[in-house]
Amino acid sequence: MKIAFYDTKPYDKIWFEPIAKEKGFDILFLEEKLNNKTAVFAKGCDAVCIFVNDNADADTLKTLKQAGVRAVLLRCAGFNNVDLKYAKEYDITVLRVPSYSPRAIAEYALGLLLAVNRKIHRAYVRTRDFNYSINGLMGVDLVGKTIGIVGTGKIGQAMMSVVRGLDMHVLLYDPYPLESILNKTQEAIAKFGSDIQYVDLETIYKEADVISLHCPLTKDNQYMINKETISMMKDGVILINTSRGSLIHTSDLLDALATGKFGGVGLDVYEEEEAYFFEDRSDDIISDADLVRLTSYRNVILTSHQAFFTKEAMYAIAMTTLNNAESFENEKTLENIVL
Ligand code: NAI
Repeated sequence: MKIAFYDTKPYDKIWFEPIAKEKGFDILFLEEKLNNKTAVFAKGCDAVCIFVNDNADADTLKTLKQAGVRAVLLRCAGFNNVDLKYAKEYDITVLRVPSYSPRAIAEYALGLLLAVNRKIHRAYVRTRDFNYSINGLMGVDLVGKTIGIVGTGKIGQAMMSVVRGLDMHVLLYDPYPLESILNKTQEAIAKFGSDIQYVDLETIYKEADVISLHCPLTKDNQYMINKETISMMKDGVILINTSRGSLIHTSDLLDALATGKFGGVGLDVYEEEEAYFFEDRSDDIISDADLVRLTSYRNVILTSHQAFFTKEAMYAIAMTTLNNAESFENEKTLENIVL
């Protein structure tokens, strides 16, 4: 099986190459991102392997089909960058890695929360410059405060586990709540604590001191964090987003940041991240004014989609992606099929 591997970074090769060799796959590593112009590079390949900022839209899928591609191997969980309607029309199988290390993302979300609250990022810069003043670095105790976790799938549940030690009240929202929590089973209480309950989204907006997003991006929840929902939130609220950038309406967030609404904002994703994230753009003029403004707020920590980035997660991603390819090639049951 020949696989065109788009948007290759050195760390991808380290983890994918040895497993591909073991399985006898031929991988064509490409630095380009997948889009309608680069899709032709996959000519002669059976599958393409793509990541979060590759774009498998209708035109791209058409070109891939003409190039002979029969499968899209997503090396990530989210699949919002693949036009599933056209993948189906062109008979291209879409496979993903539904879970690799939910704890990696939850631990990172917790890291953003702790850092942005206690302003550790600012303290780090100050002491590097021998400035030992702590003026302006005051945070809040998290014990006894309320955290709203939006999305209680694998990562949301991992988040529930990692925040347990903080002794916060936990409010949950998910359109498909977990029965075990609704029924307050012994197992759920043992795992997540007893101070945990599902509420509606509005209650989270109104009552939470911290809001952490762990839901996928869908047509229904794009820009769920917007002018209106931000206005419901408490002053000083801390917002953490490790899910997808477009859950937040960036210019509404910026307007609210300018009024001092937020105690802190921790973002590992950004709605226009495709043009910047994972690349060294330090020598370029950044023309995205929203990105520059976001970066300039000292109560915002913005990182480049790295919540997943642990050794354990990289190994699991490489292994599951290539197991998916193997199952596809051997016409076995496709456990991780999106379509
Ligand atoms: P999952 O599929 O296990 O869980 C998602 C949960 O969200 C489900 O329980 C679902 O019912 C719920 N949900 C769906 N629509 C919702 C809505 N409108 N509001 C609230 N909840 C909703 O997915 P998992 O593994 O927990 O991943 C969640 C998201 O995290 C992914 O979709 C992806 O966007 C993001 N992610 C980010 C990474 C990073 O490195 N920053 C890495 C991996 C995932």
